Amino acid sequence: MQASAKAQPNIALIKYWGKRDRARNLPAVGSISVTLADLYTEMDINLDADVDSDVLIVNGSVDEQMLPRISRCLDMVAGDQRNAATIDSRSNFPVAAGLASSASAFAAAVVATAAAAGLERTTAELARLAGRASGSAARSLYGGFVELEMSDDDIAVSSLIPADAWPLKVVIAITAGGPKPIGSGEAMEISRKTSPFYKCWVDDQAQDLDAARSAIKNGDFDGLANTAEHNCLKMHSVMWTSRPAVVYWNAATLECLRAIRDLRSQGVGTFFTVDAGPQVKAICLAEDEARVRDALQSVPGVLSIITSGLGPGARLTRPA
Ligand code: PMV
Repeated sequence: MQASAKAQPNIALIKYWGKRDRARNLPAVGSISVTLADLYTEMDINLDADVDSDVLIVNGSVDEQMLPRISRCLDMVAGDQRNAATIDSRSNFPVAAGLASSASAFAAAVVATAAAAGLERTTAELARLAGRASGSAARSLYGGFVELEMSDDDIAVSSLIPADAWPLKVVIAITAGGPKPIGSGEAMEISRKTSPFYKCWVDDQAQDLDAARSAIKNGDFDGLANTAEHNCLKMHSVMWTSRPAVVYWNAATLECLRAIRDLRSQGVGTFFTVDAGPQVKAICLAEDEARVRDALQSVPGVLSIITSGLGPGARLTRPA
């Protein structure tokens, strides 16, 4: 009745923004991501704890705010007749700041809960369950380059190529601390209902997915860079044209984009992406990582830098 799992966050290169079915949390568009290696969440689930209701500890402190979402996720995996649980979650990076902490948390939660409940679940089934809790979490069940496809009535997640087939690096510039002004779930709904660009965003996604998929399969860095930057700016244009506008960027976010563009024009292998937060992620060729890190470090307003390689999908750590 006890198990632990470890999962890494993922960064979308072709983004998910908007839901097609809110009740089942099905995304309106497919997406492609890379799973990171060096950032992680470790989660211990005890379904045999002596507690009356679920208790969630995040990095050593009781977390009442996240508890309902985690409890619902445990119900989905183990059934709502399950015992009350203790959930102990530890992450080695800032949570709720646009670094996809919900992706690694829910991916670890489904893997650990299924094992604690003694249930045999395939990775595809676990990915679907994680996706119900957080759309992007489904992708963290797989390593390397991952695609979340839209099938008729559910999601299907698969690995495009493993992490070591194209060992790119990710340099993350932290430009603000603290939680984001509005959660992505709520913001997506505002965009779906109000942005005049939303339909065009959804309709164009297949084209970006095709271009990114073939760039990944062919190791075409420039092709991937062009498509990913365009897709990111398109997603943020949908956010900005929502009413009320959803703006996650700050001045340093924009300065980082300029620095990355400058590097690219000098022949450095890097491109940017930004999620529902102010942090900037520079994807880069391994040989250019130090140059990208140094450049972002000197951008005014950058508070710190985190670097990571690409890594594996969520996995059970106890019982191993
Ligand atoms: O999984 P959620 O609900 O946190 O949404 C994540 C959305 C983005 O990070 C902005 C894009 C993506 O595909 O990860």
